[in-house]
Amino acid sequence: MKMFLSDNNSGVHPKIIEAMVKANEEHVFPYGNDVYTKKAELKFKELFGENIDVYFVLNGTAANVIGLSAALRSYESIICTDSAHINGDECGAVEKFTGSKLLQVPNSNGKISIDDIEKMLKLKGNYHRTQPKMISISQCSEFGTVYTVEEIKEISKFAHENDLYLHVDGSRISNAAVSLNTNLKEMITEAGVDILSFGGTKNGLMFGEAILILNPNISEDLKYIRKQGMQLISKMRYISAQFIEYLENDLYYKNAKQANDMASLLENELKNIKQIKITYPVQSNMVFMKIPKDVIKYIENKYEFYTIDENEGLIRIVTSFDTTEKDIENFVNDIKLGLKI
Ligand SMILES: Cc1ncc(COP(=O)(O)O)c(C=O)c1O
Repeated sequence: MKMFLSDNNSGVHPKIIEAMVKANEEHVFPYGNDVYTKKAELKFKELFGENIDVYFVLNGTAANVIGLSAALRSYESIICTDSAHINGDECGAVEKFTGSKLLQVPNSNGKISIDDIEKMLKLKGNYHRTQPKMISISQCSEFGTVYTVEEIKEISKFAHENDLYLHVDGSRISNAAVSLNTNLKEMITEAGVDILSFGGTKNGLMFGEAILILNPNISEDLKYIRKQGMQLISKMRYISAQFIEYLENDLYYKNAKQANDMASLLENELKNIKQIKITYPVQSNMVFMKIPKDVIKYIENKYEFYTIDENEGLIRIVTSFDTTEKDIENFVNDIKLGLKI
């Protein structure tokens, strides 16, 4: 059974498993001093440019926490949207480990606006208040929408003009690259991002994310923060080997493309049905829609998905790298049966 609850429902891409099995053959140095980790770092440099530092961690929350910790003092705050994963879905991990306050601003289709960031800057210099030092955005956003390269450039320009850093929570960064039909260097490095949490788990890896530090002023302490933060994995080769395979043959792109294409297929199949309303622009691998409540009950028996608001009939469908056209066809047919059309 295929699930649509999250892209974490899918398994691991077979090529990733093969890469892990190959990496299992010999003894290597631990804690990242191994050939796999060196090679994976080089792969990241090929994609993002030479002047970056790469740190592997186990999961997305850790990537956000450790990356943000490296650039902040506890009296400095992070501006993010109310819908940001770091705000609502990480159990306060960022606040606990960085000590920094999150300053929430409203989202528009999941995205932040410079006007709202600017309002927070009134706090600067007031020593009774935390000092804004970081903007954090999610690419893709929690509603599956995507910042254009131009938008990221504008936010980073604004950040740097105001002595702020820009962090990107890229747990679905590959889906964004596909959506924008751009490369990672253009979207991240050249757009002026300072810290990126680069996701892999949602797009075919078993586990493992990478923190990329693009601003050399930040990097110094990260290796200590990662160890103290319990994310320096002794058998790191099992993360690195996955990333080599993921990046070397564009697997990150192919997997994300399949997931995005399936979301777009679903949107196309449903958008002209009058009882269904797609609520956010479908730009990656998520479809949010309002459907009649009795239809939710009907499809709930067969599929797993997230009901965001039962009263409004708002549900979220997430496709994965292994979602097929047949999966979408079956799902659409079942929705139609529920609608009796
Ligand atoms: C936007 C975003 N950031 C970060 C994460 C955190 O990932 P993890 O569950 O691996 O800690 C998620 C996971 O759902 C996410 O959707």
